[in-house]
Amino acid sequence: MTAREDLALRVDSMSDEVSRIFEEETEGGRRHTWFELCDDCIKFLDQRYLPLREEWVICRDERDVALCIKNMVVRGAPAIGISAAFGVWLGLKKRVEKGQKVDYKVFCEIKNVILDSRPTAYNLFRALQDMEEEFVSSQGSDLVERMRRKALEIWFLDFKSCYLIGKNGAQLIPDEGTVFTICNTGSLATGGWGTAFSAIKYAVKKLGKDIEVISLETRPFLQGARLTTWELIREKIKFKLIVDSASAFVMSKSSPHISCVLTGADRILKDGTVSNKIGTLMLAILSKHFSIPFYVLAPKTTIDVSSDTIPLEQRDPREVKEIFGVKITHDETNVINYVFDITPPELISSIITEDGIFRYPYSF
Ligand code: MRU
Repeated sequence: MTAREDLALRVDSMSDEVSRIFEEETEGGRRHTWFELCDDCIKFLDQRYLPLREEWVICRDERDVALCIKNMVVRGAPAIGISAAFGVWLGLKKRVEKGQKVDYKVFCEIKNVILDSRPTAYNLFRALQDMEEEFVSSQGSDLVERMRRKALEIWFLDFKSCYLIGKNGAQLIPDEGTVFTICNTGSLATGGWGTAFSAIKYAVKKLGKDIEVISLETRPFLQGARLTTWELIREKIKFKLIVDSASAFVMSKSSPHISCVLTGADRILKDGTVSNKIGTLMLAILSKHFSIPFYVLAPKTTIDVSSDTIPLEQRDPREVKEIFGVKITHDETNVINYVFDITPPELISSIITEDGIFRYPYSF
């Protein structure tokens, strides 16, 4: 398929305004902050080392992509979904080029490798489901090309969702003020401007609001300290970094009051229960205590209407016991390393998606 035909696909699925921004920012659908698409591979910016150094990892099949998701070279719920889709395409392409038969069983083998990478982000399941539907309806000589286009479409739609989440969310941010955020919810975590980060960016860049961001460092992987600060500096948005445990005191001391807390989500249930980065529940409880609005921003691909439970990831204790490979505690120390927590709907003021601003009781 030519670049021009790819463009037609994008224009079909996006408004003109978003399509134009997409064209400008992604070099016509070739690259985004954290990835570059090639003919037979995808390159990921290794988020484990930012901001200290910029290294790229080349992935040629589903195993490479699954490893990058597992090791958090790539992270953030929508980014995980997009990576999964391109991983399926690469896995199928590799087999077809080797002359191997590609049937539904093979598709499921590829899918299961990626499915095993991380459990919580619902976007991973949604993207694999979308790729599966495309596979089932695409048997034939153009299978690999159709799968590539489907993966591109998943990216394009996320770019659009991010923009609209930003536009909707920015309405809730006052003209001047200070907002709290946790983890990294920006372009490094998504296919576009981000989720919570997109609302901040839209408020500052498009609406000219005078906003300062308080970014939590986000132990233990330090997405806030390493990645959100990197993005805020690139966007020239004012910010301060705090350690997670300073949240209560900074909120209590802030005058004027903190305007709102903005977070992303890895999975949202139909009743509005939200799973997001560890520390989100703490912020929600604090927000209730200090009467600060608490907003969750996510695309619809994060909403799981099919289940009442959330698989919560626990990661390697070494993430807590070491910092950049340097031990900070006794070898025999036992660790609890839940990397996500669960926030009940009664602590959430609104959930913002590309479709608008939703309040309890939820009907997305
Ligand atoms: O462990 P991570 O870095 O993948 O966790 C990311 C988050 O918790 C984000 O808040 C979430 O994915 C939504 S933001 C796009």
